[in-house]
Amino acid sequence: LAGLYSSAPAPEISPASATASENVAVYFATQSGTAERLAKKFAKELKTAGHNATVTSLTDVTPSHLAEQSNAVFFVSTYGDGEAPDHAKAFRDALMGADSLRLASLRYSVFGLGDKTYEQFCRFGVELDDRLAELGALRITPRVESDVDVDEPFAAWKGTCVTQIGTKSNGANGTKHAEVATAAAAAQPVKQSLYSRENPLHAAVVDRRALTSNISSKLTIHLGIQLNEDLPYQAGDACGVLAQNDPTLVDETLSLLPFGAETMVEVPKAGACSLREALLYHYQHTRLSRKMVQAFAEKTKCKTLSALLPAEQAAHLDTFLYDRGLIDLLHEYPGAIETPEELLAMLPRLAPRLYSISSSPAKHGLELHCTIGVVRYRSHNRERGGVASTMLAERVGVGETVPVYIQPNKKFRLPVDSNTPIIMIGPGTGIAPFRAFLHEREALGQKGRNWLFFGERSAQTDFLYSEELRSMSESGHLTRLDTAFSRDQAHKIYVQDRMIEYGATFWQWLQEDARVYVCGDASRMAKDVDSALHTLIEKHGGMSTEAAREYVSQMHDDGRYHRDVY
Ligand code: 2AM
Repeated sequence: LAGLYSSAPAPEISPASATASENVAVYFATQSGTAERLAKKFAKELKTAGHNATVTSLTDVTPSHLAEQSNAVFFVSTYGDGEAPDHAKAFRDALMGADSLRLASLRYSVFGLGDKTYEQFCRFGVELDDRLAELGALRITPRVESDVDVDEPFAAWKGTCVTQIGTKSNGANGTKHAEVATAAAAAQPVKQSLYSRENPLHAAVVDRRALTSNISSKLTIHLGIQLNEDLPYQAGDACGVLAQNDPTLVDETLSLLPFGAETMVEVPKAGACSLREALLYHYQHTRLSRKMVQAFAEKTKCKTLSALLPAEQAAHLDTFLYDRGLIDLLHEYPGAIETPEELLAMLPRLAPRLYSISSSPAKHGLELHCTIGVVRYRSHNRERGGVASTMLAERVGVGETVPVYIQPNKKFRLPVDSNTPIIMIGPGTGIAPFRAFLHEREALGQKGRNWLFFGERSAQTDFLYSEELRSMSESGHLTRLDTAFSRDQAHKIYVQDRMIEYGATFWQWLQEDARVYVCGDASRMAKDVDSALHTLIEKHGGMSTEAAREYVSQMHDDGRYHRDVY
């Protein structure tokens, strides 16, 4: 779906092609009647231009109704503290919760009405606009955020919107101006994807190898999968993998339950299937959750389990949950589960796993690469694994297929200006999008300077993609490569220590309009890197703590500081 979110600069609108007659649903959510008035006025304009228009209040529609439309224009007011008008609240809440709704064939425009004296100006319009894009709909004009006087913005916008509705071929041109400024390689129009989370591509694995050496303390793998032209992506996007639980674990789990593997069960949104399939594809059970402990406590009346549930026991509960799964409770409490329904009711659904893509469309074509840290550990006398990472590392071989889709990450893009310097901080598997960026810039002949900070445990065993990086350094494409191998000396050295060490040069690059990107661990690394960034700006920019904070916040706002952390 990358194309739908592409932030390509608005192409010229060509009135010559604006002749097609379209069906347009015009919706309004009104508090005082102004949004309704504009909706009706706009419907008249559409009819004059030869389109068919209907006007409907958002009170009368559900989100699924949108999936049946090809064009929708929304006039929505915001009132109070950023709220939707009362009668549109049900629609708003349903839309926000409609995670499986796909609106890939909907083209839309949002005209927001608000009052600038309120802090949450036009909030409902903003939410609606963002949510529709997130669900795959194609924005055909930049969103309007109008103050109390609506007539002038309406007059300025309506012509463009009518023309865009008649100009099907123009594609994704309506992104907000701020996004246009920070967008990237998106300058090329991107084809729309035929695949999605609900309809993944079963892509063949064409390459799989360890990036860490066999004596390393961890395993990180490189996975190559074959896409086709109907699943385009851009450097910076993520690949969603629909993982499957380990069949051996599922079979052991089933052997501890008093009903057969082939018992039919109903899985919400997925339909009827066997219990075995439900445990393989639809539910997460490798880790425990509070809900599972609570359900077992209620069924078994076990005091040890009940004692973990009060709020003040949160720390104990966390420790208990941390390295156990359903299988442990089944072993410990045989006979506790009496029906398949009560089992499934306590399990969370299995979510797709997202991996930052480490290949570049310009360099690697249709072969997509992921860089995957394989989760394997031993606890409570059992070998355990992550769901997706162990599946990809151990159970899906070259030549077999894996269901995937693309999760666009429009906030994590190369700069539009190919000469802009970039600083990338990506320890561990955080290297992934930066390998993509480096190859993309090289393949496109982009001349901007590139600086990479990479960190891992040991240079000998964990220097991911070392040969490629060294060769890019030698050719000069990778202007600077600074590494932090934390366990190669007595004291830990991390990427943030290198940032501080080379702080003067870092500051110099910032003065030269460099963009900063961070990818990897959110829990500690990204925070420490953020604090190092503040420290070096304070020191080398001669700023107070407060001024440095302002500076970084401005970098955020200007699209010069991007984070993809997990
Ligand atoms: P460690 O495991 O030796 O502590 C990739 O996982 C690299 O990130 C490893 O070298 C790891 O070091 C390091 N790392 C761990 N915590 C970090 C932090 N807070 N900031 C930066 N890097 C960190």
